[in-house]
Amino acid sequence: MTHNGPPDLKAETHPSRHAQRQVLDGQLGGEEGWSRLRTIYAEQAPEWRDWTQLQPGYAQSVADGLREVKDAPWAVEVCCGTGEATSEVRARFTKVVACDVNLAMLRGRDTGAPQDGVVWIAADVRSLPFADRSVPLMVALNGVFNPEEIERVIVPGGQVLWCTSFREGTPLYVSPGEMGDRLGSGWTGRTGLSGFGQWTLLTRTE
Ligand SMILES: C[S@@+](CC[C@H](N)C(=O)[O-])C[C@H]1O[C@@H](n2cnc3c(N)ncnc32)[C@H](O)[C@@H]1O
Repeated sequence: MTHNGPPDLKAETHPSRHAQRQVLDGQLGGEEGWSRLRTIYAEQAPEWRDWTQLQPGYAQSVADGLREVKDAPWAVEVCCGTGEATSEVRARFTKVVACDVNLAMLRGRDTGAPQDGVVWIAADVRSLPFADRSVPLMVALNGVFNPEEIERVIVPGGQVLWCTSFREGTPLYVSPGEMGDRLGSGWTGRTGLSGFGQWTLLTRTE
């Protein structure tokens, strides 16, 4: 049977969806959610790259969203996993810091791909290794949304490009409206559809 649509990841009931909600709503301080998110993707790390490679247009929303982004001296990609979107970010920016909390994901990246200009680091989206208001652009594909750390690190005038591969069918999906609401009044946002995915561009105005 041919299959022309996005994969059915059972996103509504996926444990990642629930964990992202726990994190955003701060249930039990969000600790249980953060711990579950680490565990879920640690378990998936060995097969992650093989699976993403089978998904047509997996990082298309990043490629399309990047066309809307302002120029910046460098960019950070959070929750980069095995780097499925990193080459898109690198194609637009000469300096990229790609981070993920999971070393197995980082080790599983395609080391044959051009690495020039990309620094790969292990970092948690709860405590990114950047000074307050120092990051000009943050990109994520299917990442864990953590508004507190975004508020801390993004420079005034800076941007966040938050993308999914499968829109609401993405387990970690957070709606553009909720992202805007969680970031508050000092931000503007717009969003666009791209293949099966979606990009949302948030700009810090103050
Ligand atoms: C759905 S995967 C997306 C990976 C990659 N961006 C992609 O689309 O193929 C989510 C990623 O978030 C990472 N992650 C989970 N919790 C994290 C945290 N607290 N800090 C940083 N990364 C985290 C996981 O290790 C995993 O690589």
